[in-house]
Amino acid sequence: MRIPFVAGNWKMNKTIAETRDLLSALLPTLSGIDGVERVVCPPYPALMTASELVAGRGVGLGAQDMHWEEKGAFTGEVAPGMVGELCGYVILGHSERRAYFGETDETVNKKLLAAQKAGLTPIVCIGETLAQYEAGETAKVVSSQTRLGLQGVSAEFAPTIVVAYEPVWAIGTGKASSAENAQGVHGGVIRPVLKELFGAETAQSIRILYGGSVTAANAAEFFSQPDIDGALVGGASLKPEDFISIVRAAQK
Ligand code: 13P
Repeated sequence: MRIPFVAGNWKMNKTIAETRDLLSALLPTLSGIDGVERVVCPPYPALMTASELVAGRGVGLGAQDMHWEEKGAFTGEVAPGMVGELCGYVILGHSERRAYFGETDETVNKKLLAAQKAGLTPIVCIGETLAQYEAGETAKVVSSQTRLGLQGVSAEFAPTIVVAYEPVWAIGTGKASSAENAQGVHGGVIRPVLKELFGAETAQSIRILYGGSVTAANAAEFFSQPDIDGALVGGASLKPEDFISIVRAAQK
């Protein structure tokens, strides 16, 4: 049985004061929702405050990215060990990092191996662009991102990886994928690649999230699909009632 997983990616939103406000609105209810692994991912400057607020509340904390080196002359970067002081999770390979900041499958893989070493649970993002979708290249792109991003991880670490399928054309557009289309990619492309990489048992235990315009209104339909194990939520994770509804919808 895969425990459902819902993470809120706040992206470049919320100051420290606003993080305090949002968590004050979220935590009283979010703390009490059992049976769903639930995680919030504020921007770096707010992680310290957030870590104090979520401590002991049953809600995990994640960073939105990190570097793969342990320390050194990498101005502006944050090391895995620094993330690990505050967070249990880290988002890797988000399409916005791929599109605007030069993230590649190779750097995603380096970061994933660094997350393994640092004891962090990675949320590895993959997904095709609109042009690739329209050209019918979804399966090719997504399987290649999965293979290259996840290569070389240990058998013990593999089951802890969380994969997030986020079609770029569905992110922040209000045009979510249909649940059937997402199920087709999760069950027909990603899980079979995971099986090739890690074997059937491990492939069955890895959570595959859907992300891209998930709302309180459409979440339940996604979660009713057999291979959609949760969601990576952007915009709706900034609205307490909506995020709480999405987490509730993930309860099986
Ligand atoms: P939206 O939910 O705003 O479409 O963002 C999805 C996303 O990119 C989460 O990482």
